[in-house]
Order: sequence, then structure tokens, then C-alpha cells
Amino acid sequence: MATDPDALIALAREHLARSYAPYSRFHVAAAVVDDRGQVFTGVNVENISYGLSMCAERVAIFAAVAAGARRITALAVASSGTGLLSPCGACRQVMAEFAAPEVPIYCEAAGEPHRWTLAQLLPHAFAAPQLAGS
Ligand code: THU
Repeated sequence: MATDPDALIALAREHLARSYAPYSRFHVAAAVVDDRGQVFTGVNVENISYGLSMCAERVAIFAAVAAGARRITALAVASSGTGLLSPCGACRQVMAEFAAPEVPIYCEAAGEPHRWTLAQLLPHAFAAPQLAGS
């Protein structure tokens, strides 16, 4: 089940009800799989001080890391919107910390999983080699 796109999207969708989004009313949920086959979920958590809000993808990734995960092998996102959700730039950079360029990112679009690779979402990511020699 863990890396099946439909199951992963369905899991994210099930968690949409846990999203805390009283300001935007745009509910997002994410599910990530790590290289041990463990699955973690997250939802967007907003704040009255809007800039403190956190995206679902990062909540899911941070939950995985806090539980001991270090490598992510798939990620799925569902939202209350009707269009194709495209993860924000900050989340893409966080994905790049823990996921290889070929890792699939499944985003729900009209009930179907749309598949991107992380490399498609974040080409030319800032990465460790660029720190070398500093
Ligand atoms: N949001 C996410 O959780 N993930 C995304 O990829 C895009 C945006 C959240 C942030 C905010 O709570 C709401 O959606 C509207 O931007």
C-alpha cells in the first residue's frame, strides 16, 4: 500500500478533515513514505499571525524526521481545492533535503494523482555540493 499512488493520495485525503485552516479555508493534507516503508501524515496549520502558518507537506516531512526517518521515497498531497495543487517553493526545498531528485510527488487533480518528480518541481536545488569550499 505504502507507495501506491492511489492509496497514498487517499490517505492524504482522509486527513484533510484535520487541517487547521480557519483563515484561508484552503485545506491541505500530505502523506509521506520513508525508506523503511513507514508512512506519516501532515496537514496545514494556520495561525492568527498569518506568517507563522505551516504547509501540510512540511508538517508531514517533519513528523517523519522526528520519528527517525531520514530518506523519503514518495509524497502525496490532497487539498480542498478543485485544481491541481502545486507544492510551494519552501516545501520543495525541504523535500530536497530528504528526497532524491527522482522521488515521485503525487498531487491530486480532479480525483486523479498527477505525478511529478522532485527534480521537475525543483530543478537546480540548493544542495550540499554548493557549500563545499566555503
Ligand atoms: N498550503 C499547503 O499546505 N501546501 C501547499 O503546497 C500550498 C499551500 C497551505 C498554506 C496555507 O495554510 C493554505 O494552504 C493557503 O495558502
